[in-house]
Amino acid sequence: MKIGVSGASGHLGRAVVSELLQRAGGHEVVAITRTPETISGSAHARFGDYDRPESLAEAYAGLDRLLITTVAPEPGKRGAQNVAAIDAAVKAGVKHIVFMSAVGTRQEEEPARGASYWRGERHLIAAAPAWTILRMNFYAEAFVQQAQAALGQGVLAGLAENRAVFVARDDVAATAAGILIGDGHAGAIYNATGPGRLSGAERAGLIAEITGRPIAFRVVTEQQLRAGLTQAGLPAGAVNIVTGIQASFAAGTFDIVTGDVERLGGRPPKPLRDVLAAALKFSSA
Ligand SMILES: NC(=O)c1ccc[n+]([C@@H]2O[C@H](COP(=O)([O-])OP(=O)(O)OC[C@H]3O[C@@H](n4cnc5c(N)ncnc54)[C@H](OP(=O)(O)O)[C@@H]3O)[C@@H](O)[C@H]2O)c1
Repeated sequence: MKIGVSGASGHLGRAVVSELLQRAGGHEVVAITRTPETISGSAHARFGDYDRPESLAEAYAGLDRLLITTVAPEPGKRGAQNVAAIDAAVKAGVKHIVFMSAVGTRQEEEPARGASYWRGERHLIAAAPAWTILRMNFYAEAFVQQAQAALGQGVLAGLAENRAVFVARDDVAATAAGILIGDGHAGAIYNATGPGRLSGAERAGLIAEITGRPIAFRVVTEQQLRAGLTQAGLPAGAVNIVTGIQASFAAGTFDIVTGDVERLGGRPPKPLRDVLAAALKFSSA
């Protein structure tokens, strides 16, 4: 079986390629990126650019299965990339398309954060001969960045005392690899999540416990959040993105725990504590 992985030079794509290569089965792995020269190891590298759909015909030729992951942060662009990639894959004859999406995806319009996922999921279901959707929860690695910023201020802020579940990026990759080489996943929507939910106060407590530095969780208004981010030097576009993410936290979007990582990825998901402790260079023992 020939399995294509897009975004293969990025964090997630590299991890998926590595997971696929570690698994038995004699499949061929095709790593697709705009920078094929960065691909090393036994994966076969191909050029493919979502913004140049003509390049995707060659990139996807002969693939049995393909993982599509897009990244463009600009409103509207990512949704268009999702559609272009799915159309190109269908046209190239890819038999089964696996699409990376996000937990809580629902009907939303641009410029809402989830609109591109919604557009991609709907187009995939309508167009692909066989499909699987893997919705990821909030990355533990992305929370590490929030924790580092919070440590500087002594406060972890949110728009509500929310509960959320964090998933390690490598666990998302293992889950995607399990789907790509497995059978019986056509028409399924899975959610890659960590092992348990934590409230804002519990997250702050975890950072304090790991670092030995006091840190509190504080509920702020959207206006206060925007002012704080602007004061910290973030450009307007980034302020909108971070505020949108925090609004999703407050709405409970990331409060979902499943057994999908363990069942499909073949190992229990890593707790947030382990990722935080490793990143903050303290032992979790
Ligand atoms: N759940 C969360 O908390 C969370 C947090 C961060 C990110 N994410 C999502 O996780 C996914 C993977 O993120 P990541 O951290 O692995 O991203 P990354 O490291 O920035 O990698 C992005 C990849 O996409 C490729 N790419 C960018 N523009 C492209 C284009 N026009 N055509 C083809 N390939 C293109 C890049 O390769 P080349 O430049 O070599 O082409 C690279 O391989 C993304 O969907 C991202 O939105 C989720």
